This record gives sequence, structure tokens and C-alpha cells, in this order.
Amino acid sequence: MNAPLPDRPSLDLLAPEWERLQLLAYLAGQGRSGQPMADEDLERLRLLQQQVEALRAPDGPWQRLLGLGLEAVEWDALVAVVAPEFEPRIGWAYQQLQGGGREPWPSRALIHELLALDADQGEALRHALAPTAPLVRQRLLQGAEDGWQPLMPDAALLARLGGHHRPLPTPPGAEPVPAPAAWDDLVLPAGRLAMLREFLLWVEHRSTVEDGWGGEACGGPVALFAGPSGTGKTLAARVIASALGWQLFRIDLGRLVSKYVGETERNLNRLFDAAHDQPMVLQFDEADALFAKRGEIKEARDRYANMEVSHLLSRIERHRGPVILTTNLRRNLDAAFTRRLQLVVEFPRPDAGARERLWSRLLPPRAPRAVDLDVAGLAGAIALTGGQIRNAALHAAYLAAGAGVPIGAAHLAQGIWRELNKDGRECTVDELGALAAYLPKELIDG
Ligand SMILES: Nc1ncnc2c1ncn2[C@@H]1O[C@H](COP(=O)(O)OP(=O)(O)OP(=O)(O)O)[C@@H](O)[C@H]1O
Ligand SMILES: [Mg+2]
Repeated sequence: MNAPLPDRPSLDLLAPEWERLQLLAYLAGQGRSGQPMADEDLERLRLLQQQVEALRAPDGPWQRLLGLGLEAVEWDALVAVVAPEFEPRIGWAYQQLQGGGREPWPSRALIHELLALDADQGEALRHALAPTAPLVRQRLLQGAEDGWQPLMPDAALLARLGGHHRPLPTPPGAEPVPAPAAWDDLVLPAGRLAMLREFLLWVEHRSTVEDGWGGEACGGPVALFAGPSGTGKTLAARVIASALGWQLFRIDLGRLVSKYVGETERNLNRLFDAAHDQPMVLQFDEADALFAKRGEIKEARDRYANMEVSHLLSRIERHRGPVILTTNLRRNLDAAFTRRLQLVVEFPRPDAGARERLWSRLLPPRAPRAVDLDVAGLAGAIALTGGQIRNAALHAAYLAAGAGVPIGAAHLAQGIWRELNKDGRECTVDELGALAAYLPKELIDG
């Protein structure tokens, strides 16, 4: 979280790309009406061509922005498709050249014409835009069914280019969760991190396995994240969404499941229709009702009495796109249920080593600290969850800010004490371990 951001090239550097495309669109229009090309236009085009090659070179701005290298024809296709996002006039030019269509996106046929490709080059372009080609597989562009359909940039590409993406409409019943979170932010045993990365493979390599290799097509992938409150389930979902460059939406099953008969199914259908094939990750909280064994946690079942649980589950399974179910109740898992999931990840309470790392990450990184303060050692000894550590660390920071001093042991002790007392159980100062000595006396009794 504290790592400096890599040096991002300014998008202004890409201006020659847009100018070149505008010129190409203009020349294509001239060509159609039988006008000869002016020498000065051709000269300008040659110059822009050189500038554009430099922009796409290894270590040039494009490769630094996207973190990958492409073939010349792939760059041409990618740039032509993404251009209207940056230069609206190019979108209007595409509309005109495509017979006044509503879409500001170019078809493969139009890109072919703009670049004045010969037959072999045209074939290379067709390959570059096939559903199994890297441009589509790596979610830079969305594929098209034929050469005449508009090609659109994938939301993941726009996200990588720096937030120039159109916001996705929020599906009914869902709530957007602000995502940016990095793998580094997650403190989990290595085995669990590996499982989360495997979940990503299911999303990223679907077209290779299904379309390219003939793997069986199924919905999902669906994962279950199980663990006590505050152990990082939502944070992990945010990391996954960020890695994909997609938006995370949280759905509270309790809220979605209305008490009116019939409403629930309608709500669900509306939600899934809106989410179909969209670059979004859906997180369903309180997924308990989906997998309670008969007779167990009856209360949860009762809340869902009006809903056909199996309908809900099968609708989730059929949805194509990443779905994360979360629960605090791992032990009630039913084998018939887990067989239907691609992944089950248990989120453990952090052990002492993990707590030390959590403390060092969750105290505000630029906050001044008392010189002799051993945050991780002192605080790591107390068995809090990550969520509790976040709250206690922030509380300590506010206490220090309020007093206008660096964060010291007394602030930590007080932050942790407040956190321990939140759930109304009887706490003893002994639970603070070595920090107990720093707790202001007046706090202990009230
Ligand atoms: N494993 C972890 N690694 C890093 N930070 C964590 C971890 N667990 C919790 N945190 C911190 O606690 C905050 C709350 O955790 P999070 O919302 O992910 O918990 P949760 O498991 O989804 O809880 P709940 O079941 O109540 O929804 C996170 O935003 C993060 O700051
Ligand atoms: Mg959560």
C-alpha cells in the first residue's frame, strides 16, 4: 500500500496517435469521393507514423501504460478502437464513414480501410481480432461477431489507461464498492493467496480453455469466502476486482430477498440481467441461506422462506462472470453445495505474525510515531482480527492527532481497549498484555 506509484506516462504524450487517426479518417473520406491525396497530407502522415512507432516501442509510453507489448497490427487495432474515448472527433468521423451509424466505434472493415491494408495484412488484422487472440483474451478489446460489428474497448483496458472508463450502471439491488486494493494489502497465508490467484485464472483464461481448448463451458466462476467478520473477505474481493480492472458490486442477500412473494425472483432476474457479460465482480454477503443444511441455522432459512433457495443458487451458477459468496459460518457447509463452487477459501483469524504485519500496514503510513514505540511487537500480541486492527489503529491515530503529538503506546492501548469493549462483553485489562500499563486509569472503570 505504501509503495510509490510507478511513474505513469502522461496521456498527453499519445496526441500523435489521435492526430494520425484523424488524418487517416480524413484521407479515407477523400479516397471514397475520388479525391487525390495532397502531398503535404502524406508528408504529415509519414511524420506521425514515425512518432507513433516511438510511442509503441518497448519502454515507450504505451507499453508502460499497459504493461505489455503487441504486434504492429495489434497496436493499430487497439489504438483505433480506443481513440474515440480520448478524441471524440474520431468517433464522429467513424460514424460518418460507417454510414451515419450510432456507434462511435470502428468495425474491423473500417480499420482495414483506414490503414489501407492489403490482403495479407487484412488477414493478420482478422487474426488479431479473433475471439481467442490476445487482444480479446487479455480483455483489451471486446470481440465482434463479424467484420461489420463495432469493436469496443474493454472496460479493463480503459481502467488500465487511467479511469477514462464509462461508469457501469449499478445493477438493481447492488451497491458499488470502491475497489482499488493491491495484492500487497492482503495479509493471508501463502496458500490462500495462491487460491485467490487461481480464481483469477478462471476469469482471465476462460476463452482459451473454453473456446480454444474445448473445455466444458460453465457459469461463474463462483467462490465462497468463509471466515469471521473482519478477516479480509471483502478486501480480497476488492483485490480481485482491481486485478481485473473491473467494478466490484456488493449485494446483501438479506436485502435482496424481499418478504413479498414473487418479488425476490424478479429482483434477482433484474440484477443478473443487468450484470450479464459486464466487467463486474458480484459479491453476495450473508450467503448462509444458500447452503444451510436442513435443520441447521433455522433462523437464516426462515428469513428466506419465501424464496426458492435452489432457484437463487442456480441463477448464481448460470451467471457468466465472477461471483463471490461470503459467510461467517464455515462449519455448516454441505458437500452437495461445495461441489457447485469453483473455489472455497477459508479466511483465518490472523496469527501473531500476521497481526504484526497488519499493524504495520494499517497505522497511517505518514503518521508520526513516538521514537520508542514498538507498534507491531506490543500490539501484535493482542488477538484482534484485521478489521479490529484497522479500527484500533485509526482510533489511536485520531487520539494522537487530537492531542497534537506522535502516536504513542497510550494511544494504541486506548484504541485497542475501545475495540475490545465494542461488543459489550466484559473485558479485563490483562487482555492488553504489555500495553495494559499504558491504559489511562480513568478508562478502565467506564
Ligand atoms: N487479511 C487481511 N489483510 C489485510 N487487511 C485486512 C485483512 N483482514 C481485514 N483487514 C482490514 O480490515 C478491514 C475490514 O476487512 P473486510 O471488510 O475485508 O472483512 P470481512 O471479512 O469482509 O468482514 P465481514 O464478514 O464483516 O464483512 C479491511 O478493509 C482491511 O483494512
Ligand atoms: Mg465483508
